[in-house]
Amino acid sequence: MIKQSKIGVGKAHSKIILMGEHAVVYGYPAIALPLKNIEVTCRIKTADKRLLFDATDPLVTAIFAALRYLGIKDEPITYEIESMVPERRGMGSSAAVAIAAIRAVFDYFDQPLSMSVLEMLANQAEIIAHTNPSGLDAKTCLSNHAIKFIRNVGFSQIKIDLGAYLIIADTGIHGHTREAVQAVEALEEKALIYLHRLGDLVEKAEAAILSKDLMKLGSVMSEAHVNLKELSVSSPEADHLVSFAIDNGALGAKMSGGGLGGCIIALAETKERAKSLVQKLEEEGAINTWIESL
Ligand code: MEV
Repeated sequence: MIKQSKIGVGKAHSKIILMGEHAVVYGYPAIALPLKNIEVTCRIKTADKRLLFDATDPLVTAIFAALRYLGIKDEPITYEIESMVPERRGMGSSAAVAIAAIRAVFDYFDQPLSMSVLEMLANQAEIIAHTNPSGLDAKTCLSNHAIKFIRNVGFSQIKIDLGAYLIIADTGIHGHTREAVQAVEALEEKALIYLHRLGDLVEKAEAAILSKDLMKLGSVMSEAHVNLKELSVSSPEADHLVSFAIDNGALGAKMSGGGLGGCIIALAETKERAKSLVQKLEEEGAINTWIESL
């Protein structure tokens, strides 16, 4: 007998945190942007045998979260993933992969999927990947707009219309979100002052965005980097690219995401400056770069 072959497809985009990583875990606000052109596609296909659970793989974890929710067991399926999002670079790869996988599972079984169920399942998968996620990554990967997010409180859309450019530069070193979140936790009260400052800098960044004050936004980004460094979540490679970007015309720069590797972001006033900075950052060791309009 020939088995009927089916296919379910799910897509999701990546994200970048502008301000507020780590402090967001402790209830401070964060601002993050969807990267709508940097996407993941997951396909669920009929297979000969059932898929085995693997808690170390965020994709498989997300597929099982979706199957469990739908009450489906022992279904012979397999998956394929096509991703433009570099893994473990603070660009939301694990959240984006989880969202794409959950959408693909629901599509495969022809089940309706609400935004709230999708977000809940994506966060379930993120708990396995990151232990204690604030929910910021999943929320941003599900949003088509920049957001200001507060854990367990909610989020609001932020209109960013600065006519400026955000450069994302990959240090080439894997980020370690789980370890970085644990490092902050281990600092106990010593972390409080930096977390509080980071929260305050997010409010300043929002005010700068609203008043279209690029210089101010750049300076609060750089100040945030200093505080993240104090929390010991940066890396020598990120510190180097941040200083290099500032010395080469960026209005401000910082690490982005969980840290201990991953990407830096830098603010440029014009597209020409952004392009020239990207070239220099690549010469300086960034293994990949992206330019986003802000
Ligand atoms: C990771 O992309 C961002 C962190 O703030 C962790 C989290 O929000 O769950 C470091």
